[in-house]
Amino acid sequence: MKINSAEFIISNSDAAKCPKDRLPEYAFIGRSNVGKSSLINMLTNHKKLAKTSARPGKTQLINHFLINKNWFLVDLPGYGYARVSKSTKAIFQKFITDYFETREQLVCAFILIDSRLEPQKIDVEFINYLGESGIPFCLIFTKADKLGKTQVQKNVAAYKKHLLANDWEEMPQYFITSSEEGTGKEGVLNYIENVNND
Ligand code: GTP
Ligand code: MG
Repeated sequence: MKINSAEFIISNSDAAKCPKDRLPEYAFIGRSNVGKSSLINMLTNHKKLAKTSARPGKTQLINHFLINKNWFLVDLPGYGYARVSKSTKAIFQKFITDYFETREQLVCAFILIDSRLEPQKIDVEFINYLGESGIPFCLIFTKADKLGKTQVQKNVAAYKKHLLANDWEEMPQYFITSSEEGTGKEGVLNYIENVNND
């Protein structure tokens, strides 16, 4: 799919205030610093559409980006970032869980996983949370440029094994990406195009 336009529309800390249009949307979620905002920039061919940082905790709000004037990509804050004060934050911030539980326009969530790491408890908890909530999702293994191809495949295989050993019947649909090298762009965009056209 070709991206002809990508525009920032609005930031929110309240899921109820997100755009009222009934346009389909796709959200990016995962641990802080896993590369959510960078992936949105890579997919849309924009260097600075979504704000990125080497320091975790950069994205703090729900950000809607309108793509080709007819669907949204949604950049979300990361979870699992310890330096955010405990008094203001549960493991998954409430406005994030509100977003997932109320957003009828959400077609699919992409859960980003750092391809270098063995399965992390918090990611698996989030996968289980979306699964139990009946929210469709895919996995995206990020930062693949930081590892050799064989090692990425090994880590994905280890992930699959872990999920199958933890009550999942099959490995969810997944993609391998590098925002640095543009890897995986077609796979993710074609997936969205197919779902949009269904
Ligand atoms: P928060 O908004 O803090 O939750 O982080 P995020 O998940 O949006 O991560 P972000 O896109 O801001 O990227 C975090 C850091 O990882 C930045 O320094 C990026 O340059 C780097 N990064 C992101 N994707 C890749 C990638 O595919 N390869 C490499 N090598 N670095 C990446
Ligand atoms: Mg971000």
